[in-house]
Amino acid sequence: MKRSEINRLIRETEAFLDSQNWKLPEWGYWSWEDWLRRNPDELGEILTKEMGWDITDFALGDFRNKGMVLFTVRNGSTPATSYEKPYCEKLLIVDDQQLCLAHFHWDKIEDIINRGGGTLKLRLNNANADESLDETNPVVVYVDGIRTELEAGGVLSLKPGQSVTLPQRNYHSFWGEGKVLIGEVSKINDDHTDNRFLDDSPRFPVIDEDEPIYRPLIGDYVKLTAK
Ligand SMILES: [Fe+2]
Repeated sequence: MKRSEINRLIRETEAFLDSQNWKLPEWGYWSWEDWLRRNPDELGEILTKEMGWDITDFALGDFRNKGMVLFTVRNGSTPATSYEKPYCEKLLIVDDQQLCLAHFHWDKIEDIINRGGGTLKLRLNNANADESLDETNPVVVYVDGIRTELEAGGVLSLKPGQSVTLPQRNYHSFWGEGKVLIGEVSKINDDHTDNRFLDDSPRFPVIDEDEPIYRPLIGDYVKLTAK
C-alpha cells in the first residue's frame, strides 16, 4: 500500500470515529513528529504490545474490497510493565462490502461487537482437525450470551449493539453492510503468531513510502527504537 493511501484512510477513519462519538487515546492522535520527540522507554507498553494504528490489505493490493483499518486500544502484559494484563481491546473498521478474510485463532477468544454504523455480517465455520474448513457440521456461538446455532458457513448479522463470542478454531470472515465500527474484546492479541488464514494471506501490508507518515502504524514503531 502507498503511504499516501494509508494516511488518507487514517484521516477518513478519524472522521468516522468522530461521527460515532468514539475517541481514541491521546497518542492515537499524535503526529509522527510527536512520536519521535518522546522517550521510547516511556512507551514500552505501547510499542512492544503493538497498540495503535494498523491497516491491512492482506498484501493483495485491493484494500477497498479486501482489507480493514484497526486500532489496538490496549493489549496484554509485557515485561515493560509491572502488572499482568490478560486482555486486549481493538477497534476494527470495515467499509460497505469490505471483507476481512477467513481466519481463526489458536489461542485468542474474541467478542466481536457492532459498536455502530451499518450491519456487521460474519460467515462462520468450524475448523477440521487438519485446519481445513469444516463445511458440514453446524457452528455454535453465543450472541450476547444467547446460544445460537448456524449451519456450516452460515452468515450471522449483528446490528449496532450486538456481539458474538468466537471461540478458538472458529473460522470467521466478516464485512459490513454500510461502514461499521467494530469492537473486539479478547484475550491477549498476537498477530504474528495467532492468525490462521484459510488461504495463508499475509497479515501486514507492504508499504510504498510516497509521502511522510501522518500517524505511525504499529509496523513503524521499529523506527522509534532504532533512532
Ligand atoms: Fe479474528
